[in-house]
Amino acid sequence: MAMRTDPVGVFDSGVGGISVLAELRRVLPKEDFIFFGDTAHAPYGTKEPGEVLGYVQGIMEHLLQQKVKAVVIACNTATSVAAEELRAMYDLPIIGMEPALKPAHELRRGGQILVLATPMTLRLPKFLRLMELYGEGACPLPCPGLMDLVEREDFAQAKEYLRQLIAPYDLGQVDAVVLGCTHYSFLRPVLGELLPAGVPVLDGNHGTARQLARVLESRGLNNLTGEGSIRLETSGDPEKAVAVMERLLQLI
Ligand code: DGL
Repeated sequence: MAMRTDPVGVFDSGVGGISVLAELRRVLPKEDFIFFGDTAHAPYGTKEPGEVLGYVQGIMEHLLQQKVKAVVIACNTATSVAAEELRAMYDLPIIGMEPALKPAHELRRGGQILVLATPMTLRLPKFLRLMELYGEGACPLPCPGLMDLVEREDFAQAKEYLRQLIAPYDLGQVDAVVLGCTHYSFLRPVLGELLPAGVPVLDGNHGTARQLARVLESRGLNNLTGEGSIRLETSGDPEKAVAVMERLLQLI
């Protein structure tokens, strides 16, 4: 049986989920987190769903061996591919993510909403359903290769990528930008330099942390006494990848 003091598992294809982890730690400072970055198989967003599902199931097994009481899929792509399957397979709370199109829709003043995400996220049914409900004025912009620049901490190149990506749009007509990939949260500062002042940039990180808090509390699984800790794991080169994760965790 799960206990309040058990850790929470968090995973992503790489370092993007570190942006979610930072928010989880802020909202739930007493919890112990095990973060797994699947660096060896990244990126997910330009692969095929079946392949990604296989990786994700392997990560779930790995986290369950460590007796996690809940799992946060800190990756929009993996959520779109696997959340439903995982919930059917495993009997523990699984919190997923989706591009923040609904809150962006609420901010819309008749202009455009730019939605940045991986090619896979934007073509799978989860996002297509969101588009049907809240997609008025939304422009989905697949960003192949952008997560790799974050993995390499190449923010100058990422800024150039974003500059070219948004160049075709009249930025005076943009009501909000949605960051629909957890890697892109690290690009808020460079994006802010490219957008007119005051354009809201939304990600799902805070909503995901609140959702985890609600679910843990409703099941009596929230840690009431812990000191809070983070363990960083990777399927890639541990020295290299964990060092990047640590730097990015300080940055955000
Ligand atoms: N961080 C991921 C997301 O939120 C995926 C990036 C990738 O592996 O392509 O979608």
